[in-house]
Amino acid sequence: MQAIVYRLLHMTAAADNGYRDRLRGATGTAHVRLDTRFAQGLRTHAQYRTYVLGMQAFVANAERALACAMLGPAWRAWRDPARTQWLDDDLHAMQVPALAEGPAMTVGSDADAAGLFYVIEGSALGATQLLGDAQALGHGPGTGATFLSRHGGFGAGKRWRAFVADLERAAFGPADERQMLASAARAFACAEFEFHRADLAHQGVEGR
Ligand code: HEM
Repeated sequence: MQAIVYRLLHMTAAADNGYRDRLRGATGTAHVRLDTRFAQGLRTHAQYRTYVLGMQAFVANAERALACAMLGPAWRAWRDPARTQWLDDDLHAMQVPALAEGPAMTVGSDADAAGLFYVIEGSALGATQLLGDAQALGHGPGTGATFLSRHGGFGAGKRWRAFVADLERAAFGPADERQMLASAARAFACAEFEFHRADLAHQGVEGR
């Protein structure tokens, strides 16, 4: 057993550039702010609508930016435009109109893409925790929780580990790494802004 643990630790260390740790460090405070916004999880229909509405605006924006970007093969493989459709389907099922497009994100390099993918892929870890709340509110695949069922469903942990492995295999120099960290920070800022707009939309305030 000890030998297996040693081997696993050794294998991880060999492919570990520390990018994930530094991304986590650079965005930790922003994640805490998101957590605080949903401190009780998604217990009410209003909280759930805010989550889906904000995620749709964030993910659609990110996927539009990624679709236009010229990416190397390692990062191209992480483009997964299905998520916007799942979120659109959920809004449709709940009869909630999408927010108008917010300020457009841009992805100008692989480093930018890596930072943005970190935030999108990482958000699946939170989604695994939120899926039960959505189900308790009566939502499931095709009935308002297609996104959480797919993004945060079976296989989310495996996908995350595969993403982190690709991330650590990258060969970003210091300038690229700074770009990657800035891109992740921008992505969190965008998500935060979109949840804010989603809240305002529910209150009937001009924010759409
Ligand atoms: C809304 C409620 C949310 C909850 C309850 C939540 C919860 C979590 C949890 C439990 C983890 C795993 C932490 C770990 O393994 O150490 C995680 C990771 C992460 N979440 Fe969230 N999350 C939420 C929303 C979001 C959103 C909206 C985003 C981005 C738009 C996001 C981005 C991330 C990222 C990037 C990570 C990976 C952090 C790392 O490197 O370990 N989360 N989240």
